[in-house]
Amino acid sequence: MSATISGFSKLSKSEKIDWIVSHYLSNSETAKHTIIQYFNSDSELQQLHDEFIENTISNYYLPFGVAPNFVINNTIYAIPMAIEESSVVAAASNAGKFWMARGGFKAEVLSTTKIGQVHFMYPGDFEDLKQYFDTIKPKLITDTKAITANMEKRGGGILDIELRTRTEDLNHYYQLHATFETLDAMGANFINSCLEQFAKTFKAEAEEHLNAPIEIVMSILSNYVPDCLVRAEVSCKVEALEDKGISGQVFAEKFVRAVNIAEVEPHRAVTHNKGIMNGIDAVVLATGNDFRAVEAGVHAYAVKNGKYTSLTHAKIEDGIFTFWMEIPLALGTVGGLTGLHPLVKVALEILGNPSAKELMKIVAVAGLAQNFAALRSLTTTGIQEGHMKMHLMNILNQFNATNEEKEFIVNHFKNNTVTHSAVVSEIEKIRQ
Ligand code: MEV
Repeated sequence: MSATISGFSKLSKSEKIDWIVSHYLSNSETAKHTIIQYFNSDSELQQLHDEFIENTISNYYLPFGVAPNFVINNTIYAIPMAIEESSVVAAASNAGKFWMARGGFKAEVLSTTKIGQVHFMYPGDFEDLKQYFDTIKPKLITDTKAITANMEKRGGGILDIELRTRTEDLNHYYQLHATFETLDAMGANFINSCLEQFAKTFKAEAEEHLNAPIEIVMSILSNYVPDCLVRAEVSCKVEALEDKGISGQVFAEKFVRAVNIAEVEPHRAVTHNKGIMNGIDAVVLATGNDFRAVEAGVHAYAVKNGKYTSLTHAKIEDGIFTFWMEIPLALGTVGGLTGLHPLVKVALEILGNPSAKELMKIVAVAGLAQNFAALRSLTTTGIQEGHMKMHLMNILNQFNATNEEKEFIVNHFKNNTVTHSAVVSEIEKIRQ
């Protein structure tokens, strides 16, 4: 079953659903029912969601959970998380509680500079170009005044524009490499608008100053923001790590070794960092930020020295265990979805309506906590014990277990190892 169509976006929502159901879905009545089941009964809220994107036919829900008991720089937070993976919120909550009893998390914003580039080709003489750039640079900035006025009033704006030569990597390739301070906004629209204006001004005056043509290829922000950095850390006396019959020293040493492995072995580093992103993405998503931008930027940072490595680090020094991470995070708490999506507003309020800098700290802590929880399980019980306990509910739901069946089986597995087949066999047993 497949089909093509022109003018799909012009169809009404119900026409779109009918078209997709009749051309792509075998059990059309059930499929249509499922699609409609996810509509919101509040028509204004539904319309809001419909209008976030083009061609909306339904809503796609993710669980919205909260990990309480996070102490960050001596302030207590409950951290909202939007994520489907069963063990993530539980792991974050455990790590939050674990560190609450040991002084909490420390976090610090190291820098907040964002980057955008106008990429252009120029086959002429470099000295001419350099001279032209120096002449036009003040006008590049003044021509964006209409765009930057508000941001400047609040203390942000364009920080600098540099001419960068990239001709060694690609013939005739240069950039206007610009840096920005966008305060509480993620800044994508602001940066892109400034860049497009730079490109216009730069091109418009080029002919009278240069003997060779400028070809503007594109103007776009960079999601690689190594100068928009936040650091999160936990530390405590090694003895204080003693837990569940494992001495603090044994735990700390094994934990540090696990981090060292991720530092030297890219296969492990990717999974290790994926665990960090479990925490980061969940908070980024819950607070209406762009998790794809964050993912792209964070992984680029993990390979900044030419080899993909762990984002977190750990050490034992003078009897003190320290575990930390520095990551780039371009986040916003104004603009974009933050003022539009009702649940995002709730998430931000749960966090005390943070500034972008505060949100950077909270998100980094969620990532560090998630990594701590994963490594703690991996180096002690193994990950499957916790994972399978959380996955139990998914298996029960696959088998449409009733509430009584769920209660009985969850109770049974409090003292038994959860495996898919063991759960299935328990379900079969009680259904006989
Ligand atoms: C699973 O989503 C994340 C982990 O694999 C992370 C890790 O291995 O560190 C548990």
